[in-house]
Amino acid sequence: MKKDKYHKIHQNILVWYAEFGRVTLPWRNTNNAYKIYLSEIMLQQTQVKTVIERFYFPFLEKFPTLKELANAPVDDVLKAWEGLGYYTRARNLHKTAVETNGLLPNNAEALEKLSGIGKSTAHAVACFAFNEPLPILDANVKRILYRFFALTSCNDKELWELAYELYDKNNAYIYNQSMMDIGSSICTHKNPLCDVCPFVSLCRGKENPFLYPEKKKKKKKPVRKRTLMVYYQENKYALVQNRERLLSGLWGFKQEEDFKMTRNSTEIGTFKQHYTHFTLDASVVLVKNKHQEKYFTIDEIHDLALSGADRKALALVEKYCE
Ligand code: ADE
Repeated sequence: MKKDKYHKIHQNILVWYAEFGRVTLPWRNTNNAYKIYLSEIMLQQTQVKTVIERFYFPFLEKFPTLKELANAPVDDVLKAWEGLGYYTRARNLHKTAVETNGLLPNNAEALEKLSGIGKSTAHAVACFAFNEPLPILDANVKRILYRFFALTSCNDKELWELAYELYDKNNAYIYNQSMMDIGSSICTHKNPLCDVCPFVSLCRGKENPFLYPEKKKKKKKPVRKRTLMVYYQENKYALVQNRERLLSGLWGFKQEEDFKMTRNSTEIGTFKQHYTHFTLDASVVLVKNKHQEKYFTIDEIHDLALSGADRKALALVEKYCE
């Protein structure tokens, strides 16, 4: 039988993974689909180190099964997600737990129909939990494909075709996990180590990996100037529940775009918070006044899920009121 044209590379990857693969990662030592799914969602926008050191285990302690996650209030899930950012992930996780009644389907086609599970995540969960031999296409894999095929720009459809062409259909689990590891330790953005890469023999981009993909000019992030309004009465502070897409469900101080200081208001600090698409330039203002909003003690606020910006504002309030 004719050998696949990538046979040698696939062999190299198996050998490489046996020696260098991060085989001790907790989600690689389980076939519990929920734990694997949780890891994939956490890892979408967060580094392995942060996920392991701060979020993965406490989350599983609170919600040991998908069924228990389904039965929990979404506010508790947001609280456990506090600090991880991209809170849509937490809301979708909860929605999926409810929609599936705590039991994930065992194939990519059905997984992809669930809230917050795109094609690549569906393939990752199906492959890692149920051994479905499918390729994945996250940012690491894309970078490897761009360089391997020496491509300057490509759309997702083309990249998926290449992902299907290159992957090891007979060892999809090891191949996919290796792609994560090679992407984060060898075929990195800034310091590609082509000499030790298992793809090197057929890699077309190895002479100048920085050419692939072509760099797009980065647009400057817009700055949003906002006043965070800390309305207070006695020892209670007013919070509102966020409705903006990314932070929806989180509690925070009311924000004003054009607030003019009055005799009743005191600026207690400023800070910047960087989001993916903009930078928040915040001024935190204490205002003694009764408003429509709900009021909470500091202890009560600590039990709510707050965004990073609101936690910074809260720290200023606590410092000021010490
Ligand atoms: N990023 C996304 N999925 C991952 C995995 N299974 N291992 C390491 N990093 C990942």
